[in-house]
Amino acid sequence: MSKQQQLPKDFLWGGAVAAHQVEGGWDRGGKGISICDVLSGGAHGVDRVITDGVQPGYNYPNHEAVDFYHRYKEDIALFAEMGFKCFRTSIAWTRIFPQGDELEPNEAGLQFYDDLFDELLKHGIEPVITLSHFEMPWHLVKQYGGWLNRKVVDFFVRFSEVVMRRYQHKVKYWMTFNEINNQRTWNYPLFGYCCSGVIFTEHDNPEQTMYQVMHHQFVASAQVVALGRRINPDFQIGCMIAMVPVYPFSCHPDDVMFAQEAMHRRYVFSDVQMRGYYPAYVLQEWARKGYQIEMEAGDEEALRNGCCDYIGFSYYMSNAVQANAEGEGASITGFEGSVPNPHVKASDWGWQIDPVGLRYSMNALYERYQKPLFIVENGFGAIDKPNADGLIEDDYRIDYLRAHIEQMKKAVLEDGVDLMGYTPWGCIDCVSFTTGQYDKRYGFIHVDKNDDGSGTMARSKKKSFGWYQQVIASNGEQL
Ligand code: BG6
Repeated sequence: MSKQQQLPKDFLWGGAVAAHQVEGGWDRGGKGISICDVLSGGAHGVDRVITDGVQPGYNYPNHEAVDFYHRYKEDIALFAEMGFKCFRTSIAWTRIFPQGDELEPNEAGLQFYDDLFDELLKHGIEPVITLSHFEMPWHLVKQYGGWLNRKVVDFFVRFSEVVMRRYQHKVKYWMTFNEINNQRTWNYPLFGYCCSGVIFTEHDNPEQTMYQVMHHQFVASAQVVALGRRINPDFQIGCMIAMVPVYPFSCHPDDVMFAQEAMHRRYVFSDVQMRGYYPAYVLQEWARKGYQIEMEAGDEEALRNGCCDYIGFSYYMSNAVQANAEGEGASITGFEGSVPNPHVKASDWGWQIDPVGLRYSMNALYERYQKPLFIVENGFGAIDKPNADGLIEDDYRIDYLRAHIEQMKKAVLEDGVDLMGYTPWGCIDCVSFTTGQYDKRYGFIHVDKNDDGSGTMARSKKKSFGWYQQVIASNGEQL
């Protein structure tokens, strides 16, 4: 058998965004308020405020975002010029069910995504759709308590059924919950709130609450996968995790064990969604801690019958952890025991840049599940400054992406990992999730919109635009 020399011909090169980070039009076409519509703008080290509804006096960057809602045709033409084979975005639940608990969907919202997908398909770009990317209806949080309430499972399945039926001939690639394992970091309100509409620290036992929410989302995901298969057997439905490989800081056995446990805490999310049952390490943990997770009859069977087809994941950084880490520098990124890794550099936001960690992650995931992988986010958030001619020469971004694509290719061509595609994050500048900034940019396409409120929203190509165009045209040969 000859060894594969190049990425497959049908490799899905593209880019990724999420509805709330690009669309704007937060109250257009009958859309309801989503949880991202009540998040203020923040900055590195300045938390976004979660307000009680939309309140006067706050800056809500997602309300306008980069106005993709009105400008998507222009943007998609630029994606097509770059040669995109696919484009990952999400469907805003609140455009389809503005409050979340209605019986009938909002036709204007459905029509918007029909038009968007038609425009993509016109250019030969395959839509890759996340059903839930940090934007559940705010009403479901306010009235029901978010995903802690079992009723939300049914609301989500109803929403998913409506959109999967409507777009069954336009969308083949789906994912259920974006970075579902972010809420593992339950001590950071933003993560819990965006994943599930729950602020875990407001509950008596935050960790047990997180596990209850997790169970509800697993059941919902599994039901949606099973339903999707009935609607169109050609659907490919993935889970989606934030893959942050946690390395032991040293070869001290305590550090090694600590890192393995840290990975268990993150893997539980993909383990259940890919294998269809709870792994022993989490059942033991619940028993040891006395956690009672409420499950209904039929849940176990639902989990078994709703395993995902592939693992979608984001990869930005790795982390190193030390058992018993204390003092300054301990827990640098919200991961328990995380300490600076002296062998890698970090971005201005403290994200540790580690291209080899991508190859390591791909091997780890493929060995664990033996199912196809899809890198649905990877990228470099930076402050971009135009040169005297107005061009953004983002060589730092090109360097980051080149180094990661090189490692991605090694995982495929040397290690034999089955990879469906690669969609760098924020292919067009958009609102940052963690900070709500415009100025933390990832795009190949610059959007003239800034944190101080200035800007015309005009689009322009950065240096990386032409670079990525050539990467796609050569199927990853010319980096
Ligand atoms: C992931 C999310 O966490 O990383 C995206 O899925 C997010 O929504 C991306 O935007 C980059 O994070 P940030 O905070 O730099 O925008």
